[in-house]
Amino acid sequence: MTEPLLSIERVSHEFGARRALLPGRRTHLAVDDVSLTIGAGESVALVGESGSGKTTLGRVVAKLITPTAGRVLVDGRDVGALSGRELLAYRRTVQMIFQNTQHAFNPRRRIRDILADPYEIHGLPAPDGRDAALGELLERVGLHASMLDRYPHQFSGGQRQRVGIARALSLGPRLIVADEPVSALDVSVQAQVLNLFARLRRELGLSLLFISHDLRAVYFLCERIAVLYQGRLVEVAPRERLLEHPLHPYSRRLIAAVPGLGERDSAEVSQAEAPGPAPAPGVAAESPAAAAGCHYASRCPLYARLGAPERCRAERPALRPAAGGSAVACHFATEGEEPGANVSSVVSEEVG
Ligand SMILES: Nc1ncnc2c1ncn2[C@@H]1O[C@H](COP(=O)(O)OP(=O)(O)OP(=O)(O)O)[C@@H](O)[C@H]1O
Ligand SMILES: [Mg+2]
Repeated sequence: MTEPLLSIERVSHEFGARRALLPGRRTHLAVDDVSLTIGAGESVALVGESGSGKTTLGRVVAKLITPTAGRVLVDGRDVGALSGRELLAYRRTVQMIFQNTQHAFNPRRRIRDILADPYEIHGLPAPDGRDAALGELLERVGLHASMLDRYPHQFSGGQRQRVGIARALSLGPRLIVADEPVSALDVSVQAQVLNLFARLRRELGLSLLFISHDLRAVYFLCERIAVLYQGRLVEVAPRERLLEHPLHPYSRRLIAAVPGLGERDSAEVSQAEAPGPAPAPGVAAESPAAAAGCHYASRCPLYARLGAPERCRAERPALRPAAGGSAVACHFATEGEEPGANVSSVVSEEVG
């Protein structure tokens, strides 16, 4: 196998860790021992419920925050050890795009100046024939070069997200971390922006870490899907495999919750969504910091069905390879397997 573009190696991030010794300070382990790779040109999705640590992991990858444990490698080099010119080069390699475009740009500056910022920040000369180059950048994302003179408020939400993408593309990144880039947009506009991402990937050979709640968008755009639950990776699988044959009880629940994808599992969903079995002794309910045992046990229908096995409380399940290229962190996942639906017929290849 060729070396991945990016490797996340046993990364954890604990908020408040540095001030943890002060009285009354609480820490929060938002990302807990996550390992994941992204290949050159590959698109990987990060899914999971609100608060599961998706944005935190994305910010670690974009080096907006430093992880409290573990490391991130790009082309096999430890990003934490970079400084000076190498660090700037990394910042050009990885760009992050956010959900909220409303406050992303200074309202008093024209798009021309906003798009020229990255060059200045990186001490690079503005491209030759600056306006032509910036206009081309706008056209690449489906806008008109004549819009360079406009101010941010003169764009629609979808157009503003395109400006954000253009700015992210300006210095030729190899990996884009896109954090819910379409969820604030109108449904019809969402499809257009997703199609834009797909086209840019094809044209520029970009890698993508795509953070989303929307499994249909994820299926459309990504080859692999990584499922986070309370900071831990519970499953990583090729997209068809995950949607047609999810192994982890939490992935099964996520997929069952998407209309049209998962009616087959409704029995399991209702079990999972019910308050669930009382946490067994030793299982810290909802606590991602629980060192021992499976952190999903207190909500897990499989745990309940199997009669609360001791192993789930005592031993943290490692992410281990399973059939079909999946990896799953569950001691008993395969025993809960049932044949899945054929999602390819439900989720169409083209969005919109
Ligand atoms: N700056 C911070 N200080 C303390 N805790 C934080 C901070 N940022 C995030 N957290 C906590 O870390 C956990 C993970 O947050 P994160 O924003 O990564 O979740 P998320 O998966 O992106 O959620 P969402 O889907 O709602 O965007 C949450 O419990 C959150 O409250
Ligand atoms: Mg988030």
